[in-house]
This record gives sequence, structure tokens and C-alpha cells, in this order.
Amino acid sequence: MNMLVLVGLFFCVFIAIVLSGHPCSNRCEWLPWEETSCSVTCGGGTSFRTRELCCPSELKVDDCIKYCSKSFSGFSDFGTCNELCYNGGSYFSGTCQCLPEYDGRCCLKQFDECGSNPCLNGGACRQGSNRFDCTCLPGYIGTRCEQETNECLSSPCVNGGICTDLVNEYICSCVPGYVGVNCEIDYNECASNPCQNGGTCEDRVNFFRCICPSGFYEDLCEIGICHPQPADMIFLLDSSVSQTELNFMKQLEYVSNFTDHVLIGPNDTQISVITFSSEAIIEFDLTTHNNNISLNKAIQNIKFNPGITRTDKALQKAKEVAVSSRQRRRPNGKLARVFVFVITDGMSTYREKTKQEAINLKKFSPEGIAAIECTRSALSDVILMIDEYVNTSNAETFNGFSGLLDSASKLIQLMDTLGSEDNDTHISLTSFSNTVRTYVNFSDHLSRGELLLTISKIPHTEDVISNISAALHYINIDGFQMAYGGRLGARKFVVILTNGGYSLDAVFDLERKKVLEKGVKIIVVGVGSNIDVDYLQNIASSPYHVIVQTHEFNNNLDVLKGEFVYDACDLDFIN
Ligand SMILES: *[C@@H]1O[C@H](CO)[C@@H](O)[C@H](O)[C@H]1NC(C)=O
Ligand SMILES: *[C@@H]1O[C@H](CO)[C@@H](O)[C@H](O)[C@H]1NC(C)=O
Ligand SMILES: *[C@@H]1O[C@H](CO)[C@@H](O)[C@H](O)[C@H]1NC(C)=O
Ligand SMILES: *[C@@H]1O[C@H](CO)[C@@H](O)[C@H](O)[C@H]1NC(C)=O
Ligand SMILES: *[C@@H]1O[C@H](CO)[C@@H](O)[C@H](O)[C@H]1NC(C)=O
Ligand SMILES: *[C@@H]1O[C@H](CO)[C@@H](O)[C@H](O)[C@H]1NC(C)=O
Ligand SMILES: *[C@@H]1O[C@H](CO)[C@@H](O)[C@H](O)[C@H]1NC(C)=O
Repeated sequence: MNMLVLVGLFFCVFIAIVLSGHPCSNRCEWLPWEETSCSVTCGGGTSFRTRELCCPSELKVDDCIKYCSKSFSGFSDFGTCNELCYNGGSYFSGTCQCLPEYDGRCCLKQFDECGSNPCLNGGACRQGSNRFDCTCLPGYIGTRCEQETNECLSSPCVNGGICTDLVNEYICSCVPGYVGVNCEIDYNECASNPCQNGGTCEDRVNFFRCICPSGFYEDLCEIGICHPQPADMIFLLDSSVSQTELNFMKQLEYVSNFTDHVLIGPNDTQISVITFSSEAIIEFDLTTHNNNISLNKAIQNIKFNPGITRTDKALQKAKEVAVSSRQRRRPNGKLARVFVFVITDGMSTYREKTKQEAINLKKFSPEGIAAIECTRSALSDVILMIDEYVNTSNAETFNGFSGLLDSASKLIQLMDTLGSEDNDTHISLTSFSNTVRTYVNFSDHLSRGELLLTISKIPHTEDVISNISAALHYINIDGFQMAYGGRLGARKFVVILTNGGYSLDAVFDLERKKVLEKGVKIIVVGVGSNIDVDYLQNIASSPYHVIVQTHEFNNNLDVLKGEFVYDACDLDFIN
């Protein structure tokens, strides 16, 4: 101890000498502790320390010590040192209190639970004390984020939408007509204002409906009656022998009737007519007649020009006309739609060529050509009704009865479509006075020879004037019944052969109306030289359906041949 004091004194003297500018005060003074060493560098250790006593030179060392002894605690002792904690740890009562993820005396050691990358699917690992915590990416759950959440479990898609589960999201595939993330919105098909020309749009699920103002039609009200899409219409009229002039005139009338229903003009409908028999003739081109009056006049001037049926040549010409249409814009800048109407009995002379030309024509206009094709069909049920009455005081009508039977026979002879097959013409044979007598039913299928024989035996009546109402009544009630062999799809004809000596009574109009309403065509053949055509027209379906047979002119029954077979016209849209 003395030794130390002496050493200390020596130091003190030395220091007092060295720090001559800071001499000790009158009293003795302990210099600060000098740490010698610390057992650790952190976490709190023990150290040995020493200190010196500084004594004023005038004081003896013993006195100095005595004087300072009040606070004397020795020249050396042991103390704590390096109370240092790392990583946010705090020193308390001899040890470091570490934050959770750290350990060790100085909190220098870090737990490494995350080192094995325990969090899956991109989850973030956070170190806890002796454990890890995973913070999962959206869409995953579980302590290791190992489980994908199924967002479809809550059935989010409505209105029939199909849910597809994705990571942290789902997709609804909506049924047509619905939109929205969850298909919750009924798509408004009217949103794009699809209706034109002032049409009102009604939204429905997956479609809309345009309510058009009057004068407009089609799905979007896009076609106006007054301002239709320009159209080029090419009519091919069959002028062949088989048509007969009467039928040809009907074709002209058909075209003429047609033009009355469309607006003819440079910006509207233009019409070309091609007739064909042995040759095809462009009667006039699309641009020749630009108003209904000159067009109608031109139609009326077309001549019947009989020959064979070269439909192929007609189609060739139609193509020429159609090509010219495609190459020409209307004054309003629009291209016309091209329609080709073929009116024919279908009996083309060169069928293979015709087919080829039709294919050419179809190929040429992919936007579509419409054709009315009249094909030969003989699916007709025809009731022949022979008026039995003969006025014996009138020599003409008496002789006329044999003429009447002759006419019936002639009709049977020229009906080359007669037969028993389903697609043939079937005949029922009757006569009438004030009542109706049936000789042959549709289902009887007599041969031509048997029919002629039956006709030749039909007797006349001299005392009872025929009741045409009774005849028409029979047509309404019995004539076309299936029980008598009438066929469902067949066209129905009644051919009344008469001398004109029948009476019309109060119920006639009603009976005739009923017959026509059934779709039955009434054809009247008047036989004799004193026939009152106007009187016959009271009965017939139309003025065309009255045929007069006289001794001089008795071969115009031919037109009926066409009547029974030439009626099946189909509108064909060729695309
Ligand atoms: C033409 O029109 C008139 C009047 O509407 C009609 O009686 C006639 O049957 C029509 N002709 C043809 C061939 O369509
Ligand atoms: C011809 O067309 C004009 C204008 O559309 C119409 O007023 C007239 O009635 C038509 N004439 C015939 C004969 O169709
Ligand atoms: C056809 O349309 C054009 C353009 O819209 C117009 O200038 C012309 O007068 C029209 N022609 C007729 C005959 O309407
Ligand atoms: C029969 O014919 C004669 C001579 O034409 C005529 O006077 C008479 O009225 C006719 N009878 C009947 C019922 O039509
Ligand atoms: C009519 O039908 C028969 C039998 O079904 C058939 O052999 C014949 O070809 C048909 N005739 C026509 C013109 O369709
Ligand atoms: C016509 O058919 C009906 C019903 O089957 C039958 O009553 C009648 O006798 C037949 N008439 C002839 C002439 O075959
Ligand atoms: C003609 O026949 C119809 C129908 O059978 C009948 O109602 C009418 O009274 C008859 N007329 C005459 C003048 O006998």
C-alpha cells in the first residue's frame, strides 16, 4: 500500500510538475480513475482501475491523504465496464436485454430461422425470437404461405358467369349480354344507338330490338320505303313455246306489277328485262328506263318470240348485265344490289349448260343473287265438273253437249302429267245438275283410257237447270277430302265445263268465296258458239281462268296444260 501511495505520490508530483498550469488546489485532490483493462469488450465486464492523488507541494503526503480521506476510497478497485449492448439491446442489471431477433451477451448473435427460406410463394420472412413469421403475398395463406386462397369460393360471378380462380383474383366469364367484373351489368345493346332513322331501341338480354317509325323497316330501320337501297333487278322471262303467249303475257304483267311496288329511278331501283327462247335478248338494260312510265311502256312492247328454251343463254346475258351493274355507281355514290329473277317452267333445253351458267352467275356476285325459279311440278288435284243441263229447244247447246264431252276428253288427253304417283296430277270426274254425281275419285287412279271411256258415258239432263251453287258446295264439303284421295300438299283446281245454261242464286257468292278461300282455282271452260264470257267470269278465279271452246277454235285448252304444272315458283336466295 505504501508502495502504491508512493508511486501515486510520485505520479502526482510528476503530474503536478507536468501540469504546472493546473496545480492542485490547497487541498489534496484525487485524479480520475484510470481503467487499466476490461474483461470484455461489451455486455458489461469487470475492470481494475487505479487513481492518483494529487497533493499540493507544501502538504506532506500523509497530511494530504488524511486531508482527502473524507472521500478516500483507495487507490484502486474493481468496477463494471463496457456496458455495451448491440442491435438495440439495453443493458440492465449486469446483462444485455436483446431485441427478439438477437441473442448473446452483447446481442450480437442473430437468430437465423429465415435462413431456410421457409415462406413459400413469395412470402416475406421475418425473424422472431427463435421463430419466423411469414408475411404472405396477397392470395396466399398459411404459416408458410403454402395455401392458395380460392377466390371463387364466395361465388362472386352472377347471372350465370363462370368463375376462374387465379392468384389473388378471379375472372368471371360472362354469358353473352352481361358485362362487369362480376357479370352484374346487363349490357346495354342500345348504347351504340344502333337503330337508324329515328328508330327506338329496346334493350334485351343479349339483343336489342328497333321499333321503327313508319316508312322504315329491317333490323336497324335502315331501309326506308321511300329511299331504299338501290337495287338492280334483272328479269329473265321465258318466251319459249311451252310457255304459250298467254303465259308470256302473264310474265310481263308480273314484271309490270312488280315495278308498281318499287321506286324506279337512278338512285333507286333499275330494271332490265331479258327474254329467252332459242336466243336471249336484252330487251332493255338497267339504265335504259329511269322512270316507271317509260319502263312500263317498254315492258308492254316486249314481244313473244317462241322457240326452244335456252335458259343458259339467258343466264349468260344476265351475267353481262350484272357485271355492268357492279362497274357502275349510282349518282348518289352507292353500289346497287343485284337481283336476278328467272321465270321459267324449268324445262331448259340444255340443262347441263344451264346449270353451269347458273353457277357462273352465282360465283360472280358473292353478295347474293335472288332467283325466282319456277320448277315443273305436277302435284295438282283436278276435279272436272261437267254441266249436265241441255236446253233441247236450243239446237246449239244440244249439239254442244257432245262438244262439252269432247273438250273434257281433250283435256284428259293433253294432261301429260296425269298419273298415280305422288308427284303426278290426279283427276276426279263429276257431273252436276241440281246435284253432283261422282264418277271417279282421286284415289281411283283410272288410266287415261278408262277416264276417256267414263267421260263418253256421262248422260245429259234436259229438265233440270244446273245449280252452280250446289256444285261449289260439293267442292267445299266433299271434293278435296282426303277420304276421296285429296292430297295435303297438292294444288287444287276445279274445271267446270258448261254450255252456260246454269243458274246463279242467292247462295252462289258465298259458296264461291268459300271455294276461293280454300285456295282452289276455278277454271271455267265454256263450250258452244253463244257463250256469254262475262257470265262465265262470275264463277272463274280470274278473267284468265275462262276458256271458250267453239267449233272453229277448239285448241286453246293447251293453256291449262301449263296451269297444272307451271305454278311452283320458289324464291331462292343464293349466297
Ligand atoms: C297484277 O296485278 C293485278 C292487280 O293487283 C292482279 O289482279 C294480277 O293478278 C297481277 N298479275 C300477276 C301476273 O301477278
Ligand atoms: C310513277 O311514279 C310516280 C312517282 O313515284 C307515281 O306518282 C306514279 O303514280 C307512278 N305511275 C305509275 C303508272 O305507276
Ligand atoms: C341521286 O342522288 C344524288 C346525290 O344524292 C342527287 O344529287 C341526285 O339529284 C339524285 N337523283 C335523283 C334522280 O333523285
Ligand atoms: C232454252 O232455249 C230457248 C231457245 O234459245 C230459250 O228460249 C229458252 O229460254 C231456254 N230455256 C232455258 C230454261 O234457258
Ligand atoms: C315422281 O315420283 C316418282 C316416284 O316417287 C319418281 O320416280 C319420279 O322421278 C318423280 N317425277 C318427278 C318429275 O319428280
Ligand atoms: C268416292 O269415295 C267415296 C268415299 O270413299 C265413296 O263413298 C264413293 O263411292 C266413291 N265414289 C266413286 C265413284 O268411287
Ligand atoms: C242450289 O244449291 C244450293 C246448295 O245445295 C241450295 O242451297 C240452293 O237452294 C239451290 N238453289 C236452287 C235454285 O235450287
